[in-house]
Amino acid sequence: MNDKALRKTIEAITLPIVELAGPTPEGYELLNRQTVTLPSKLITTNIAKQVTLNPFGDKPQTFIVDRVADVKALPFDHASLGMIMVSALPLSDHDAHNGPYTAAIKQRVAAEYDAVCSGDLSVIRYALHLHLYKEAGRVLAPGGPLLQVWPHERDIEAAQQFGLALIFERQHTDHAVVFQKLSGS
Ligand SMILES: C[S@@+](CC[C@H](N)C(=O)[O-])C[C@H]1O[C@@H](n2cnc3c(N)ncnc32)[C@H](O)[C@@H]1O
Repeated sequence: MNDKALRKTIEAITLPIVELAGPTPEGYELLNRQTVTLPSKLITTNIAKQVTLNPFGDKPQTFIVDRVADVKALPFDHASLGMIMVSALPLSDHDAHNGPYTAAIKQRVAAEYDAVCSGDLSVIRYALHLHLYKEAGRVLAPGGPLLQVWPHERDIEAAQQFGLALIFERQHTDHAVVFQKLSGS
């Protein structure tokens, strides 16, 4: 898909557009560069209602999101969202909440990617990006895009297992990918 087709796809969305692990005060470079106007107000979510971030590496600021949503169990119905956006989601749940990304956790995350990429979708625990694809595959309407900034090197392969096909990839300052939920999945 080229820039123009991506813009048309996003601007035609009628269902809600939700950001996970938001907000992202620095914005989405991919959308800014292509001057995409979202067709509805972005609904920001995070695992907690109040989020402290350091935008632009500056001093910490606190933000209140519109809704609480854990990527491991999104509070949205099947095929109810028009688009999902997410930037800099931690790779592992352990990393996000329980401490440093140790070698043992890294190994568990790698094992989950191995299982998923070979078609076993039953064992996902630590790998937050895999939870993201599983849930996005459920809550996105067919054709709905998932825009992800800073994917893991195996994410494109893994997302396919959940009916999400890569339709766009761009590496500017930020590495951004766009998946699309396949019809019938
Ligand atoms: C590095 S920050 C990224 C914030 C913002 N998206 C950005 O790019 O500036 C990671 C965010 O992921 C959120 N997060 C971690 N685990 C999550 C989960 N299971 N569900 C939803 N958000 C989660 C954290 O609360 C944190 O706000």
